[in-house]
Formats: sequence, C-alpha cells, structure tokens
Amino acid sequence: MSLLRAENLEKAFGVAAGAAAGVQAVRGVDLEVEAGQFVAITGASGSGKSTLLHMLGGITRPTSGRVLLEGIDLAVLDDDQLALVRRRRIGFVFQRYNLLPELSLVENVGLPLVLDGVSESRSDAAAREALETVGMGHRADHRPDALSGGEQQRGAIARALVASPAVVLADEPTGALDSENSRRVVELLRRIVTDHGQTVILVTHDPGIAALAGRSIRMNDGRIISDMTQADAPGQLLASNAPRPKPGGGTGHRSQRKRGGR
Ligand SMILES: Nc1ncnc2c1ncn2[C@@H]1O[C@H](COP(=O)(O)OP(=O)(O)OP(=O)(O)O)[C@@H](O)[C@H]1O
Ligand SMILES: [Mg+2]
Repeated sequence: MSLLRAENLEKAFGVAAGAAAGVQAVRGVDLEVEAGQFVAITGASGSGKSTLLHMLGGITRPTSGRVLLEGIDLAVLDDDQLALVRRRRIGFVFQRYNLLPELSLVENVGLPLVLDGVSESRSDAAAREALETVGMGHRADHRPDALSGGEQQRGAIARALVASPAVVLADEPTGALDSENSRRVVELLRRIVTDHGQTVILVTHDPGIAALAGRSIRMNDGRIISDMTQADAPGQLLASNAPRPKPGGGTGHRSQRKRGGR
C-alpha cells in the first residue's frame, strides 16, 4: 500500500457560475508516493501545483477522483474527521510561515497537539524537541515577529513535524527566503527524510531545489507531464532506507514515532 495515492484527481473552480467561467486547475492526476520519499513538484505558475498539494492534504476536496492516505479514502471523511486526519497525519508548510503572532514560537509549534487534547506540559516538551530538530531550540520563547524569515520557516517546519505526521506537504517554503535561508530550509526538509524516515512533498519554482529531491514531478496545465527518479539526488538514498510497510497492514509509521505526543 502506498503512503499516499491519488487516483484520477480533478479540480474545477467556478464551474457553478457557468462552464465558460470555470477553471480546470487539475486534470486527471494519478500519483503514488511511498513512505520515505522526498518529492519535488515544479511547473509554471497556474499549472495546478498548489491545488494538487491541497487536495493531497485534504485542504481542498477534489471535483472528482480520490486521495488515499495510509489507505484511507479522504472523500469518505466528514469535515471533522478530515480535520483530525490533517492535524495528526499531515504537516503543512506554507510560503508565508503562518505562525500566530500573539503566541511564542514554542506555543505555535505545540498548537496542533494542544488542539488535539494533548496536555500543555506534554505539548510543550514535544514542541521544544521539534524546535531542537530544526535548530531553533534557543529561540523557543520568542514571538514570531522577533525572528527572521528563515527562522520563522524553520519554526513552521517544527510545527509541521510535531505530531509525527505521515507526510509533510510544503508549498514553496523557500519562496520568501534568500538563497542562504532557502538552502537551510531545504537541507532541513531533506534531513527529516533521511534521518527520520519522513515523507516530504515540496512544491518549488527553483530547479536547484527540485534537483535535491529523490523524485521530481513536473506539472503543466493541470497534468503531470514528467515524473522522474533522480538517482544521484541525496533524497533518493533514503527512499531505499525508508520504513517498509508491515505485513498485515499499516505503514509502520506509527510504531516508529520519535516524539510520543499522545
Ligand atoms: N480558489 C480558486 N478559485 C478559482 N480559481 C482558482 C482557485 N485556486 C486556483 N485557481 C486557478 O487554478 C489554476 C491553478 O492554480 P494553482 O494555484 O494550483 O497553480 P500553481 O501551480 O500553484 O501556481 P503558482 O506557481 O503561481 O503558485 C490557476 O489558473 C488558478 O487561477
Ligand atoms: Mg501555488
């Protein structure tokens, strides 16, 4: 069983207002992602990258087709169940960090656990550990506005990791960063794949960043036009080291949690 599987995914916007005004953002995408893969998605602006990522992460419901995460069809979940899966099994990283300004960094990072009913002390401990992982432990008690963009993004990555999700989805996480900070953020994402057996799907405009991923997917006009394994990319080494699905079901991901938040 694949960790993540998309079958004939389509997304149309605005069709209700009349076919002529509708936008077909994604047109029949089939995709399988295995645990431990580092996948980059590139393509021109408007080619459907974000829309695809949002459907894979259960943020946007497809017009047709389906997404299976760890074998669960997201379409059968109601909104509350979907929110739960998003919180527990999917980590999101956005271009604009999306940290809450009134909370400290460690409170931001622990928030997914607090929302999930984990005690404050356990959430705090897990958040501090996640911040250590991204090299931000020393800034845990600062507010986001006291941090640089690169630091905020590393904090956002810690937040994405704190619940030990099955997959981290990152939409142009380096889009607002200079080249040095971009390099650090991508190295961090690469390392969580290699060192922690995580799965990362990264949307980027930067071919240099896409070249670091073990697998590179290119989109055009709502379709996947190429899907290549990059044998010499650092991310690929770990795909072969990735946890294998256990016989009898399950991805093995839960059993190899590093941070026992719950
Ligand atoms: N909420 C929406 N309502 C209407 N149209 C939308 C919506 N979201 C996206 N679109 C359209 O769908 C198409 C794909 O958009 P999407 O954001 O997925 O592209 P993208 O590849 O992520 O582009 P970029 O590189 O600029 O971020 C575009 O034509 C866009 O205008
Ligand atoms: Mg986009």
